[in-house]
Amino acid sequence: MKIVHSVREINSLSKKWKKKGYKVSLVPTMGCLHEGHLSLMRKAKSVTDKTIVSLFVNSKQFGPNEDLDSYPRQFQADCSLAEGEGVDALFCPEPEEIYPENFQTSINVTLLSQGMCGKDRPVHFGGVATVVTKLFNITIPDVAVFGKKDFQQLVLVRQLTKDLNYNIEIIGAPIFREKDGLAMSSRNRYLDDAGRRTALCLSQAIHAAKELVKGRQDVAANTVIEKTKEIVDNAGGKLDYAVVVNEFNLIPDKFVNKHSVLALAVKIGDSIRLIDNSKLMMAS
Ligand code: PAJ
Repeated sequence: MKIVHSVREINSLSKKWKKKGYKVSLVPTMGCLHEGHLSLMRKAKSVTDKTIVSLFVNSKQFGPNEDLDSYPRQFQADCSLAEGEGVDALFCPEPEEIYPENFQTSINVTLLSQGMCGKDRPVHFGGVATVVTKLFNITIPDVAVFGKKDFQQLVLVRQLTKDLNYNIEIIGAPIFREKDGLAMSSRNRYLDDAGRRTALCLSQAIHAAKELVKGRQDVAANTVIEKTKEIVDNAGGKLDYAVVVNEFNLIPDKFVNKHSVLALAVKIGDSIRLIDNSKLMMAS
């Protein structure tokens, strides 16, 4: 596996591969890799000839009071994990390689950035859109793989790809979960035993919502949201939001239908915020 720090080098490597007729995939990450990330790499490898994984903790998607400085970093372990998956190149630039002095441009996917996780994180999705645009331009992939775990991010990346005319296939990979249902996340490591138990309320709420819907189209979204609140409250979590929205445009549904997604964010204790989501009428 090549470890590449410079924009120029990864760009020419990708160009060289494409000249040879290889299909190239990109898996963007912020490192601290876990099984969820590795499942994305496996997917990328299965559909293309060469896979690039980017590892970059993107300062622009963290608000002033968020965890940029304490975001977990484990470079050596990440290298071995990516290498173990047969990744062809790991692109791990220094911050100034991506945002040199006097960097001024930002990309905003306006409407999709506003609700849900964007409500209390006004700079977050602008930062994501800006770095993803740069990573697309730098690595010129044919395919990019993102996790459904970050549902709003995936919808936004699809929109950005269409709006900016990128000829890139965006693949949404399934949420990888612990055995007991908790969606894997770099932030799970901050949970103590009690927090870890409380954190199960996210997947439990999703399970209960699917049970409630049982494949019917006529269930009111509010009924699903009320049930979600109840489960999160009873578990001792603090519901940040729970919404039932259309899977393509994030517009709230009044009644559950085959494109409805239940998405929720829950605070566990003071500082750990976890997200989860699922389509309500099909396994996803
Ligand atoms: P990060 O949180 O490192 O996640 C990288 C990718 O892994 C994202 O596409 C995310 O959805 C996916 N992922 C995380 N946990 C997952 C799980 N349990 N199952 C499946 N996929 C999972 O998301 C980001 O980084 C950044 O915003 C990024 C896109 C890299 C831009 O900076």
